[in-house]
Amino acid sequence: MKVLIVYATKYGNTEKVAKLIAEGITSVEGNEVIVNNVKDVNLKKEISYDLILIGSPNHFGRHIGSVKKFINKLPKSQLKVNAYAVFDTYILADFEKAVKKMEAQISEVMPDLTKASPGLSIKVEGTGTSKGPIVNEELPKCKEFGIKLVQG
Ligand SMILES: Cc1cc2nc3c(=O)[nH]c(=O)nc-3n(C[C@H](O)[C@H](O)[C@H](O)COP(=O)(O)O)c2cc1C
Repeated sequence: MKVLIVYATKYGNTEKVAKLIAEGITSVEGNEVIVNNVKDVNLKKEISYDLILIGSPNHFGRHIGSVKKFINKLPKSQLKVNAYAVFDTYILADFEKAVKKMEAQISEVMPDLTKASPGLSIKVEGTGTSKGPIVNEELPKCKEFGIKLVQG
């Protein structure tokens, strides 16, 4: 499977989650993955992926503006994808919001795109607008998420 992981990050935690998911994906033979900051994705280049994973920190209960813009541009872009899944990082208990909102936005702009899996939410340490790091027990979930996605 050919997978593209696109993430946004302020302090590096969501980037770390993206890289750990990628590790899981490439640990299963026959899979390739590209990990890109949302700022660096070229939407004008024609390229196809079996799966796109989109990740964002939870800011004020939702995904951040750069990810929202990226999702809005996807349908008219040259980037072709067959399925998607999302992930977020959060601090508070109302953690589902960013993944749920990304899923809602994606199904609105690309209603025919298959959701490969429910979203992954990863907790970081601290309160308020903390820099993390990722809660230790959460780390294995990232790699497992990647493995499950490509094993089907
Ligand atoms: C401006 C701002 C708003 C935030 N709002 C929330 C929030 O509403 N709920 C929550 O759980 N975490 C919130 N956080 C914490 C972030 O989710 C946490 O800093 C983030 O997961 C770190 O990811 P990053 O290292 O990739 O930037 C907020 C952080 C910032 C900087």
